[in-house]
Amino acid sequence: MTDHTELESTNWSPRKKSAWQALKSHYRNPNDFNIKRLFSKEKERTKQLSVSTGALYIDFSKNLIDAKSIRLLIKLAEESQLNAKIDDMFSGSFVNNTEHRQALHTSLRVPPKTASFADDKSNIQQEIQQTLSKMEAFCTEIHSGTWTGYTGKTITNIVNIGVGGSDLGPQMACHALRFYKLPSITSHFISNIDDTDLGNTLKQLDPETTLFIVASKSFSTLETMQNANNARTWFLRSAKESDIEKHFVAVSSNTEKTQTFGIALANIFPMWDWVGGRYSLWSAIGLSIALSIGMKPFREVLAGGHEMDLHFKNTPLNENAPVLLGLMGIVYGNMLNTQSQAIIPYDENLALFPSYLQQLEMESIGKRTAVDGTTINYQTCQILWGGTGTNSQHSFHQILHQGTQLCSVDFILPLDSQYDIGDQHRYLVANCLAQSNALMNGKTEEEAISELINSGSSDEEAKKLAPHKVIPGNKPSTLICYEKMNPRILGQLIALYEHKVYVQSVIWGINPFDQWGVELGKQLCDSVEPYLRADNNIPLTDIDPSTAEIISRYRKLQSK
Ligand code: F6P
Repeated sequence: MTDHTELESTNWSPRKKSAWQALKSHYRNPNDFNIKRLFSKEKERTKQLSVSTGALYIDFSKNLIDAKSIRLLIKLAEESQLNAKIDDMFSGSFVNNTEHRQALHTSLRVPPKTASFADDKSNIQQEIQQTLSKMEAFCTEIHSGTWTGYTGKTITNIVNIGVGGSDLGPQMACHALRFYKLPSITSHFISNIDDTDLGNTLKQLDPETTLFIVASKSFSTLETMQNANNARTWFLRSAKESDIEKHFVAVSSNTEKTQTFGIALANIFPMWDWVGGRYSLWSAIGLSIALSIGMKPFREVLAGGHEMDLHFKNTPLNENAPVLLGLMGIVYGNMLNTQSQAIIPYDENLALFPSYLQQLEMESIGKRTAVDGTTINYQTCQILWGGTGTNSQHSFHQILHQGTQLCSVDFILPLDSQYDIGDQHRYLVANCLAQSNALMNGKTEEEAISELINSGSSDEEAKKLAPHKVIPGNKPSTLICYEKMNPRILGQLIALYEHKVYVQSVIWGINPFDQWGVELGKQLCDSVEPYLRADNNIPLTDIDPSTAEIISRYRKLQSK
C-alpha cells in the first residue's frame, strides 16, 4: 500500500489525527532528514534519543527523526489515547474484541510477592501461581530423577510438540538460554506437519528416556495432533497404554480433548483463553524452557518481562522504550512508505529471534481491518525479516547498503561475551558498529574514486568502477545493547517487542490479539486433503485446473 487518497469512513482513523497530518507534512521531503547532518546540528542527539531500561540501552539516534518528529509522534500517541489503552490491557479490559477476550499475558510475569490476590476476582493470579508451582514441582521431579520412565530410567530427552506460539517462543528461548542449559536434559522441538521433522527427531530418541510435551492451547491444531498421535504410536511400539502417563504431558486449555488423547489429568498444565498463542511462552507453554534451564532461571525470564511491563506502564511516552520503538515503525511505514524491517542480532543466542518476532508482529498487526470492522487504508505491519550478524553481512546486507528500497534495521548487540574466546567478541562488536555506521555514512563517488586511486587504479579505471562502489548512506538503524545474554535480559527483550506491537496496534486501530487470516488456509486444507487419499478417486471437476494438475501428479506417484 503506498498512497492513500480515499475519503476516510471513520472518525478515529489515524490519518484524521492532527499529529498524523503534521507528521505527513514534516516528512514531505524525506531528504530533510540527513542523519549525519542531524548529528552535527543536535549536539545532545545521542543522549536525547536513547533510553536505558532494566539491562537494555536503546539508541534511536541513527534514525530518520529530529526533535520535531519525536514531538509529533508523541502527540500522535496521545491523540490515540495510548496511555488509556495501555491501562486497558493491563487492567484486563476485553481488548481482544473479536473474540471477546482479555489479553493478560502481562499477569503471567507478576512476581509471586507482588501478585495481589485481594482484587483477584476471577482467581487469575491464583491460577497462575498454582500453575507455576505445578511446573516447579514437575521440574524438580524430572531433574532429580524421581520421575522415571516406564522402565525406571530417568528422563533425559524432552520433546515439545507444538506449532506457532506453542513452539516458536519456547524454542527461541531455549536456544537463547542454551548457556544455562542443564546438562542432564536435551530438548527437541517438533512443529511441522512435514514428517521429516518428527522422523528425524524420533530416530535419535529412546522411548524409555523421552518425555513428550504436547503444547497446544486448543489441542486441535492439525500439525500438533498429527505429530502427537504419531509420537504416541512410536512410543507404543515398545511400551503399553498405561505407560503413556509417564511419558506424555500436555499444556492446554482444552482438558477434554487432552484427556481423550490419553493424557492423565494430573499431567495437564493449564492454559487460558486470555493468553494469546504468540504471547504464551510466559505460561506453562514455557515448560520446555523450565525443564531445559531450571525453574529458577525461568522465573528470571518472567521477572525480566515484568520489569519491562513496569517501564511500559509507568514511564512517560517520550522516554518509553516500547513506545519509541513502535513509533519508529510509524515513521518508516506510514511517513516514508517503507515496506520492511530487518532484525539483526549480533548474538548467536538470538538466532531464532527474528522468526519468533515474525509471528509476534506479523500475526498480530499484519491486518487490514480496524477494530470497528472498517477497512484500513494505510499501511500496517511492515514485513519483518532478519538473521544474525555477522553471517547476515555475508548474505543480505548488500541490499541494505545498495538496494533500491529503504529498510529500517534493529541491531541487537551484547557488549560482552559468555565465552571470551580470543578476540572474537571484540570483532563482533566492531562489525555491528561498523554496519550501523556504514548504513548511516555511506560512501560518496569522490570517496570511492580516491580510494581506488590510492590502491593503484588509473583515473579512468577509478571513474568507471566508482559508481558501483557508491553507497548512498542515510539508512536508519536502532541499536539495542546489553551486557551479555541472560534469562532476565531475554525477558526484557521479548516484552519490549510485545509492547512495541501493542503501541502500533493502538495507533493503527487494530486488535493485535486475533488472527482470522490464518483460518482460510486451514479450512481449505480440510477440503483439499480428501482428494489426496488413496481410496478416494473423486473427480477433480470442482477444483481449479492448477490444483487439479498437482493432485493428479500426486495420485499417479502414490499409485506406483
Ligand atoms: O494458526 C495460528 C495459531 O492459532 C497461532 O496463533 C497459535 O500460536 C498456533 O496456531 C498454535 O495454536 P495451538 O496452541 O492452539 O495449537
